[in-house]
Amino acid sequence: MKYAKIVATGSYLPTKILTNKDLEEMVDTSDEWIIDRTGIRERHIVAENETTSDMAYHAALSALNQANMQPDEIDLIIVATSTPDSVFPSTACILQNKLGIKTNGSIDLQAACTGFIYALTTADCFIKSGMAKNILVVGSDSMSRIVDYSDRGTCILFGDGAGAVILQASDEPGVLGNEIHADGNYNSILTCDGHLYNGEIKGNPFVYMDGQAVFKLAVRSLTAVSKNLAESIGVDLAQINWIVPHQANIRILESTAKMLGCSMDKVITTVDKHGNTSAASVPLALDVAVRDGRIKAGDLVLLQGVGAGFSWGASLIRF
Ligand code: UT7
Repeated sequence: MKYAKIVATGSYLPTKILTNKDLEEMVDTSDEWIIDRTGIRERHIVAENETTSDMAYHAALSALNQANMQPDEIDLIIVATSTPDSVFPSTACILQNKLGIKTNGSIDLQAACTGFIYALTTADCFIKSGMAKNILVVGSDSMSRIVDYSDRGTCILFGDGAGAVILQASDEPGVLGNEIHADGNYNSILTCDGHLYNGEIKGNPFVYMDGQAVFKLAVRSLTAVSKNLAESIGVDLAQINWIVPHQANIRILESTAKMLGCSMDKVITTVDKHGNTSAASVPLALDVAVRDGRIKAGDLVLLQGVGAGFSWGASLIRF
């Protein structure tokens, strides 16, 4: 049987850092409140002339370098994003051009903060079906472009960045299984419904969030999908070496770990330094833990995503 194996990871963070102290100057908030309620201390923000595809490009290059691969060895690009450079062409096609690749398939995938898990699941299917051998899967988001910096309920949470993995066909176990879900009944609790309409923006161009509703649903759905996926693959949760969750709020990570009976020592957390980077958060955290040596070959790793839609999912991977 052919598996899809993660053979390299990469990431990119813009240079500009927005601290809680900076936010104190912008809205009625405090460093203490933000750390206490979210665990976030700082987040990175794209430069004015920087785009989602630029960040994706840097993350992709760092993954390609780690894999010692040339861009033209990639036969499919999937970019998970909710903040594309343009309506069309897709950010994936713009990235393809920046990488100098000529004719491979390149698609965007939009599942908000669950985007990377959806993209990885899709890539896994392409490899298992034999349609692709080397896939570049990127999560990249410029959330600062759609955050209202006068809304203290949301602007403290989000940051910008990109993460990437290269998924390769292999005879050795890699992705052991994925599970993705969505429930559109909850679509109004987390939205950014602004869109182009006859030359104007119709709807709200900024993120709206019912924080408490998202919080509760996130813990419940991440717990359920993680238990279900592990059980369907026949893996005991205690066997998992690392959990790499979507970095939304440290309290969501702690509550979910507790519900799963997992120690926080096994949970990779970057939320303090990155904030919530939407589709980039899981591959960014993964890259940090691979590069600092915590995640090693042979480890069993659970990736978890949750976000607008309402959408959620998980992937279980043998490194
Ligand atoms: O990818 C998924 C995306 N989103 C998430 O995962 C976010 C999920 N939700 C959350 O992380 C939390 O709900 C928040 C961090 C957004 C809010 O934390 P909370 O503990 O749920 O606070 P709350 O909304 O219940 O608000 C408590 C109080 C309110 O004041 P009153 O009404 O009690 O006087 C808010 O107005 O905290 C106030 N508040 C703030 N105070 C200082 C809300 N935001 C702030 C702020 N600074 N930034």
